[in-house]
Amino acid sequence: MSASGLVARDGSAFALAQPNPPASLDVPIPSVSPRSFHAAMPGYRATPLRSAPAAARRVGVGEVLVKDESERLGLTSFKVLGASWAVYRALVAHLGATLEEIPSFQRLRAEVARARPLTLTAATDGNHGRAVAHIAALLGLDSHIYVPADMVPARIAAIEGEGAAVTVVDGGYEDAVERSAGDAGPRCLVISDTSWPGYEQVPAWVIEGYSTIFAEIDEALEAGGRPQPDVVVVPIGVGALAAALVGHYWSRPAPRPALVGVEPTSAACVLESVAAGRIVTLGHPQTSVMAGLNCATPSLVAWPIVSRGIDLYLAVPDSFIPEATRLLARDGIVAGECGAAGLAALLAMVDDEGLAGAGEGLSLDQTSRVLLISTEGATDPEAYRRLTAG
Ligand SMILES: Cc1ncc(COP(=O)(O)O)c(C=O)c1O
Repeated sequence: MSASGLVARDGSAFALAQPNPPASLDVPIPSVSPRSFHAAMPGYRATPLRSAPAAARRVGVGEVLVKDESERLGLTSFKVLGASWAVYRALVAHLGATLEEIPSFQRLRAEVARARPLTLTAATDGNHGRAVAHIAALLGLDSHIYVPADMVPARIAAIEGEGAAVTVVDGGYEDAVERSAGDAGPRCLVISDTSWPGYEQVPAWVIEGYSTIFAEIDEALEAGGRPQPDVVVVPIGVGALAAALVGHYWSRPAPRPALVGVEPTSAACVLESVAAGRIVTLGHPQTSVMAGLNCATPSLVAWPIVSRGIDLYLAVPDSFIPEATRLLARDGIVAGECGAAGLAALLAMVDDEGLAGAGEGLSLDQTSRVLLISTEGATDPEAYRRLTAG
């Protein structure tokens, strides 16, 4: 089952005729794996792989499995996996050490004392910045997080709650990225999950860090004697998580599941870029309720991977989010707006005539096993209450 062969372009769906194994995945394997690094972090446990029968019935597939990232290392989204690994690698480099010399978070905590005072800075739509601030606090470092002007107070409070200084910029996510990048210096490390010319190493480490999600999924499937999924759906912001997805599934033995990337219609920068054949920056504001996906430009390091290895790119309107959130709640899964994006995409393929072709391209039917990555829980608790109350 694969979307190969389907080529659609109507602003809301785009499928690659022939996805390619992404050449840029040929990166050296680190001597400490993200999976083992995370497993030794305080409070670690693999997040659950849950079954979502109500969702499966509603969209007419055999099984929906959900990798539930609503509780990850003490936070409510997957982002801490990339942030912790990138902070670890950046600090090891900053200390002039090797991974073998500092092989764990505990060891890093001891060694980092000699680097203080040191600030970690990042720009964020919410979750990445909170994760960077959380890791900084665990390491006894300062953090300074830049956020867009329209960020809801609950998200700002959550970042401040981790001990960070928060600056609200007069502009959007891209403006926040620019401001945080300007702080780089001997006493300030920029830990960005997106990349730009000349700033590529840390965001590549963020992608590496997300690989833990997919390693855990394989472990859970294997432990339960369950087959690999036919289709895997991830939400896309700047494309770092999707790059980790592509990296994982293209390096596994065949058959490869069909890989689907979902963006909000108001922030479909990867879909638009793939359709244009080059990175484009959206000219309009990104206003989706899927706050973590409100990005105007794909990440430079994610781009060569994400533009080649995904089968189907879908842009989904916000209107599908409330039902997706409620269906997942019925299945016992707390999924915030970005977390529900994958199920929203399945609903859109069922209910939206314009996207029906995309569903047919994936050959979704009663026998299909679909895996959704629910990337966040109730990161905005008030919005979550409103969504699920309806
Ligand atoms: C909850 C959530 N899901 C998905 C994403 C998208 O990840 P990426 O920006 O790596 O594409 C983000 C990004 O911030 C997020 O916060």
